[in-house]
Amino acid sequence: MNCRYSRRYYFIPAAVCTVGEGGTRLSTAFAAASGAEMCQRHILCPGGRIIHGRNDMDPIIQVEHVSKIFGEKDRRVDAVNDVSFEVERGDIFGIIGLSGAGKSTLVRCLNLLERPTSGRVLIDGTDLAGLSARELRQRRQNIGMIFQHFNLLMQRNVTDNICFPMEIAGVKKQDAKKRAAELLQIVGLEEKAKAYPAQLSGGQKQRVAIARVLANNPAILLCDEATSALDPQTTKSILALLKQINEEYGITIVVITHEMSVVQQICRHVAVLDHGRLEESGTVEELFRSPKTEAARRLIISGTEQISRMRGKRTIRVTFSNHTAFEPIIGNITLEFKTPVNILYADTKTINGNAEGEMILQLPESQEIADRMIQYIRDRNLGVEELKNYV
Ligand SMILES: Nc1ncnc2c1ncn2[C@@H]1O[C@H](COP(=O)(O)OP(=O)(O)O)[C@@H](O)[C@H]1O
Ligand SMILES: [Mg+2]
Repeated sequence: MNCRYSRRYYFIPAAVCTVGEGGTRLSTAFAAASGAEMCQRHILCPGGRIIHGRNDMDPIIQVEHVSKIFGEKDRRVDAVNDVSFEVERGDIFGIIGLSGAGKSTLVRCLNLLERPTSGRVLIDGTDLAGLSARELRQRRQNIGMIFQHFNLLMQRNVTDNICFPMEIAGVKKQDAKKRAAELLQIVGLEEKAKAYPAQLSGGQKQRVAIARVLANNPAILLCDEATSALDPQTTKSILALLKQINEEYGITIVVITHEMSVVQQICRHVAVLDHGRLEESGTVEELFRSPKTEAARRLIISGTEQISRMRGKRTIRVTFSNHTAFEPIIGNITLEFKTPVNILYADTKTINGNAEGEMILQLPESQEIADRMIQYIRDRNLGVEELKNYV
């Protein structure tokens, strides 16, 4: 399909673009009512804003068999090894893995700060490797990046930090200042316009970095461990800001992290990276309920310290959600088998608006009773898996 908007930046008002059949109808109705121009996929509103009117998979990032090798022979490091995945437009996509898994290398391959040794990356259907240096620079303005250590210019105040990318892009000084003031409002830092980075907290510095990256109206925002230097409360507020930006401006966000809690707070889809390989990917709920690989399980339960005390015991992880029939499962098991189970850990998290619970249980010594207990839980459609090799 030919469309003259298909290479442009999409602006998705949250009220218009909803998921599912209704979303398309709503977009179409909105377009018709406001006299917008439209094709099958994009809608140009009278104000010049383009919205995205289709709800089927529309990848903005396609990673195809990407590998990145550093060094040679005996010092060779396969930092990224034959990784393929796609990120839907408008998604918040997590890439999770332990330190050294290859996350930063992979994310730098997305904007070609790192050239893949093999494979290719398509951004909005274009292979960046085929662009001239000038075209690549232009394209990169469409891909913002924020980091763990904020990377602010220490000699410039907050406003001048935010104006910096606009200066480079040739925006008039006065216009840049006006835009910087708007951006500061979006990130909730109006009162710090004249402060210097050294006078700001970590969370405030990251807000400035986010305002600065928004100055170029990026379609994609890459966040490499953006909250790893922040305390849990500040992390929450920065993740909430990123989510708000995703919803209000339709910016696709890729979140690189080693923390499952970050993925659970904002991502819709996630890929697990381990030793440079993509181990599994899917929705965050799928990963939480039934991780398929050892690497994923390790990441999921790494936050639960109690597990380190379970050496040698038979333990299981049970997951349940508000879609699962509610019954007092532990109480019923104890009644049914006349044997108590030990709850080592229990928690409920909200993932994409759903309450998702997990429990880690220590089962009785008897193999036969333990097996029957597992079957009992399985029969009630709860997620259950044995935890081995983690302690
Ligand atoms: N420029 C480089 N030269 C050589 N090795 C590198 C380079 N960058 C990263 N590596 C290696 O690649 C592997 C993955 O690193 P990285 O992508 O930074 O992982 P992560 O971000 O998941 O911690 C590590 O073994 C690291 O030492
Ligand atoms: Mg890294």
